[in-house]
Amino acid sequence: MKAYQPLLEKYGRQASTYDRRWNLRWGHATMRETISAIPWADADRLLDVGCGTGLLEAAVSSRLRGSTVLVGVDICAPMLQQARRNIPDQTHVALTNAPAEQLPFADQTFNVVICNNSFHYYQHPEMVLAEFRRVLCPSGRLILTDWSSDFPGPRIIYWVLRLAAHAGFSRYSLKHCYTARELDAMLVAAGFHVATARKVAMDLGWGITVVQARA
Ligand SMILES: C[S@@+](CC[C@H](N)C(=O)[O-])C[C@H]1O[C@@H](n2cnc3c(N)ncnc32)[C@H](O)[C@@H]1O
Repeated sequence: MKAYQPLLEKYGRQASTYDRRWNLRWGHATMRETISAIPWADADRLLDVGCGTGLLEAAVSSRLRGSTVLVGVDICAPMLQQARRNIPDQTHVALTNAPAEQLPFADQTFNVVICNNSFHYYQHPEMVLAEFRRVLCPSGRLILTDWSSDFPGPRIIYWVLRLAAHAGFSRYSLKHCYTARELDAMLVAAGFHVATARKVAMDLGWGITVVQARA
């Protein structure tokens, strides 16, 4: 996956400082929205794609009981090393290094797939959605939360990053910042039934979309 080289270099360098630098106000608020959208009553096999430094795993690990398993997947090994340091109780948590486009799991392994603040990087989003659907059991749920182009903050940052990459100042590899409508259309095209695609406004013009969909 050559297209991910700039991203691997960026997150490889930033893994140990990522939580302090990037995950302060919007990062935590975004994660809270995602966690509250998870259908906990039906969730005992959960997959978190693009789990990064494992902040979501750390936040929910005390809720995981019995045979419940939460698997975090990330393409960047140093982010997973940081996740191993961040998650205090890993009894019900497993971490795997893999790209979202090629998830190393059998069909219908999970009843919930989570993707928090990562989808804008995916170079092959249709492939990723097909993988989400493949690993979900019938009627399994997808919770996809991401930056939203419906708000000026993400829109401006997306275009600044694109221009910087175009001008050769940066190799930062964001693929696209979607509107709620775009995400909805992609999910429907991938065969999901979208229950809600909620736009959530934050401060300083920032905002996210939180999608709940069924396989
Ligand atoms: C902004 S961080 C978010 C991490 C975490 N979900 C959070 O909210 O703190 C994005 C993460 O997505 C991962 N990522 C990007 N593209 C990926 C891909 N194709 N497959 C798996 N992980 C990917 C990056 O390595 C990074 O750890």
